[in-house]
Amino acid sequence: MNKAYEKLVRCEKIIREKTDFEPEVALVLGSGLGGYASNMDVRCEVPYSEIEGFPVSTVPGHDGRFLFGYVKGVPVVAMKGRIHYYEGYDMTDIVLPIRLMGMLGAKTLVLTNAAGGINMDFTPGDLMIIKDHISAFVPSPLRGENLDELGPRFPDMSKIYDRGLMEYLRASAAENGFEMKEGVYLQFQGPNFETPTEIKMFRGLGADAVGMSTVCEAIAARHMGLRIVAVSCITNMAAGILDQPLSHEEVQETADKVADKFEKLITGLIARIGEEK
Ligand code: HPA
Repeated sequence: MNKAYEKLVRCEKIIREKTDFEPEVALVLGSGLGGYASNMDVRCEVPYSEIEGFPVSTVPGHDGRFLFGYVKGVPVVAMKGRIHYYEGYDMTDIVLPIRLMGMLGAKTLVLTNAAGGINMDFTPGDLMIIKDHISAFVPSPLRGENLDELGPRFPDMSKIYDRGLMEYLRASAAENGFEMKEGVYLQFQGPNFETPTEIKMFRGLGADAVGMSTVCEAIAARHMGLRIVAVSCITNMAAGILDQPLSHEEVQETADKVADKFEKLITGLIARIGEEK
């Protein structure tokens, strides 16, 4: 058996010794959704540190965990804390949690993140539907021997983000009194922010927002046939657009301000997924 798949099976077994919860939806909580647990009826928590071989955040004080519970009656596994490529792990490790949630039974993946706005029509605090992405600046998580147990060698990415789920986002936003922005997200390696010239180049390539996560996770999820929807919280305008330096504090501050709106959007999305049956 492939080593990466063996590790996944070991991690799955450890979780299954702790809970028999069967999630339908997997949710990755990005900046601004750190407090999302208060919207969940949490039944079980599994800290990443209790899963042998699981990549843990290298940022001091960032203890990540899986939360298993219900949102509007829908069984959800949420990741409180994600691991980023810039922390130094291989891409295979970065996407291990996503694959694991798929193996635990999740059929739909909801990805969220903080991003810098490249599109001049955006304003910090906007929430953007990711309609497509640019992955060309990070390695593919599928590089190396294919995990045949999960999916094909050459998976199609032409409609990676699900059109029906985008419609649920628009409806959830409308119900909560705001409109979604929509656009293309580009994953940059980080951890440094981009230069103004890089941002100009990304705009020329068709990107509307830039961040340091999500795309690799979406690719791994698509490989295994999950249905995917993704939302960016535009926390700042990207480098060079405004005459001011970028900072993590600004990102965090905007994400915190938007938290309530973001939480409502995601709850409305999951409620609609629950109504599908
Ligand atoms: N660039 C990259 N990642 C980010 C940004 C940005 O401007 N804002 C939030 N995450």
